[in-house]
Amino acid sequence: MTSSTTETVAVPATSTKLAAGQKHRVLSGMQPSADSLHLGNYIGALVNWVRMQDEYDAIFFIPDLHAITVPQDPAELAHRTRVTAAQYIAGGVDVDKCTLFVQSQVPEHAQLAWVLNCITGFGEASRMTQFKDKAQKQGTDQASVGLFTYPILQAADILLYQPHGVPVGEDQRQHVELSRDLANRFNSRFGETFQVPEAFIQKESAKIYDLQNPTAKMSKSAESPAGLINLLDDPKTTAKRIKSAVTDTETEIRFDREAKPGISNLLTIYSTISGQPVEKIVADYQGKMYGHLKVDLAELVTNHLTPIRERAQELLADPAELDRLLAHGADKAREIASATLADVYAKVGFLPYGGAR
Ligand code: TYM
Repeated sequence: MTSSTTETVAVPATSTKLAAGQKHRVLSGMQPSADSLHLGNYIGALVNWVRMQDEYDAIFFIPDLHAITVPQDPAELAHRTRVTAAQYIAGGVDVDKCTLFVQSQVPEHAQLAWVLNCITGFGEASRMTQFKDKAQKQGTDQASVGLFTYPILQAADILLYQPHGVPVGEDQRQHVELSRDLANRFNSRFGETFQVPEAFIQKESAKIYDLQNPTAKMSKSAESPAGLINLLDDPKTTAKRIKSAVTDTETEIRFDREAKPGISNLLTIYSTISGQPVEKIVADYQGKMYGHLKVDLAELVTNHLTPIRERAQELLADPAELDRLLAHGADKAREIASATLADVYAKVGFLPYGGAR
């Protein structure tokens, strides 16, 4: 996946100057809230992460603290956290090149979040659109205070590591903006402490839509699973879902997001997985039927996902080794996080443990 048409994130125009030999740092995470990541997470996030880990000092984590902002079955959450880690690694995240850890194993996230809670305005937090959407769906009485402060915990995730860039989809832009605002506010109140991070927003071409409802983004909270392509599903299910994807009543295969959202989504998936530009695929399918495209795409996607699924299953067969890798990542992460937190605590005026040093 190297062609320019499949490049899904803009090269960051960060202004931060670096010392010789130092790399820009990036940080991102995906919630462990499903039994499998879907193709939107894979194309929209994971593929970019894997590309970034060579060029950047990359930190990837599994935000399990965020997952409990809505009710979770404990055994299922533990399972999904491992499953998510296994998919990161199976998809190409290399623990020797980057730092990979589970959020709850680094207590500094919750500790910094508290300090940031105390410099965030109630009105400011109330304006976060993701909270408004989710609270509206669940009813405000059902929504937890954790869900309300979710973006502030996300700001803590980011600011603890002083990253230059946060690669995410458009849906996360507002949260990265909040972390910038909080970094600037803390810096101006207490003195220079945090790097102000930039959102590295994936290009529109990395956005994957629901196969049954191709104007809505592919999402684990979709009403029906029929519109999802999951990394860990068996190939038969994946092929069936692609072949049953909703298209339009015309027959012409061309890219037109407005008039032909279903076919355009299939072309995006084809292009990102095959590394071929959309125009070439359209030219190759001139005069052919939608069915031809779907059959070929089903084969392309299942062939691509099979080794990832198998590698994830291998990793999950040895949970002790997976947990060891994650513990190692958490140790690496804590070295950075604890230094930032100590600086923050001192600036806020908390007494140093054991007296003045
Ligand atoms: P989450 O778990 O909802 O999504 C993870 C990433 O996947 C992208 N994504 C998609 N991209 C393309 N097409 C789709 N259909 C699609 N669906 C999801 C998202 O944009 C995102 O980049 N709040 C975050 C998790 C988080 C985090 C952080 C991220 C917690 N702390 C700190 C960055 C930095 C979330 O819920 O992502």
